[in-house]
Amino acid sequence: MDWGMKNRMSRIFKEDGKTVMLAVDHGYFLGPVSRLEDPAKTIEPLIPYVDSLMLTRGLLRNCLDAKYNIPIVLRASGGNSVLKEDLSDEAITVSMQDAARLNVSAVALSIYVGSEHEHQTLTNLTKLIDAGQDYGIPVLAVTAVGKELEKRDCRYLSLSCRIAAELGAQIVKTYYCEDFEKVVKSCFVPIVIAGGPKLKSEEDVLEMTYNAIACGAKGVDMGRNVWQSNWPIAMITAIRSIVHEQASVKKAFSLFESLKNK
Ligand code: 5RP
Repeated sequence: MDWGMKNRMSRIFKEDGKTVMLAVDHGYFLGPVSRLEDPAKTIEPLIPYVDSLMLTRGLLRNCLDAKYNIPIVLRASGGNSVLKEDLSDEAITVSMQDAARLNVSAVALSIYVGSEHEHQTLTNLTKLIDAGQDYGIPVLAVTAVGKELEKRDCRYLSLSCRIAAELGAQIVKTYYCEDFEKVVKSCFVPIVIAGGPKLKSEEDVLEMTYNAIACGAKGVDMGRNVWQSNWPIAMITAIRSIVHEQASVKKAFSLFESLKNK
């Protein structure tokens, strides 16, 4: 890996090799999703607690002050909306020149393995990786499933993550699943987990985080389970304690409880 790319990776992954990323890119196909209607209001209070932000260039340019020294992972795929049944028909939506102009630490693109547009999303990934190599900008591949959430099992996610790594993605974002250690073991680049739709309780989110890290994930790239919580700062702090301080679920949950009414 070249110096520029290594340097960008080290901005995202801290000295312990782990990262707490906040995903707020949902509007690229969901529009004004609940609690992100006014993005700055939701995002700004969380910035001191996260290692990077994953978002779109529209949100970045319009809603986030350039004074923040927070590594940016720029959403660089899209081209459809939640109104379509099949979400896999994505294109590359940002040039690498613009990503460089925005001084981002990585770009992110979704792949839809097994979908109608599998080939298109995988070749989008390789094109973005080639462009990223020219600029020293790493690519994070998201193993997306669209509306088919039931696809998220070990066999499917191992296949998707491994393909992303084989095609050259420097980081893979996927879902937690049963036997997750097999997914991690078969993927030779760092894996971070998405949170997915909001879980029943904060404790469930902490348990998922703990299990993912115990199985070898290098961190989280979560959205809704943080900022749709009524206590987003308590939530991200508790998640952070698991990722960076090896806290147990019990310890992280009691931290959450102690912070939530402050
Ligand atoms: C959409 C994404 C989202 O950023 C991702 O799903 C993370 O957010 P959440 O934790 O809310 O699922 O990549 O494809």
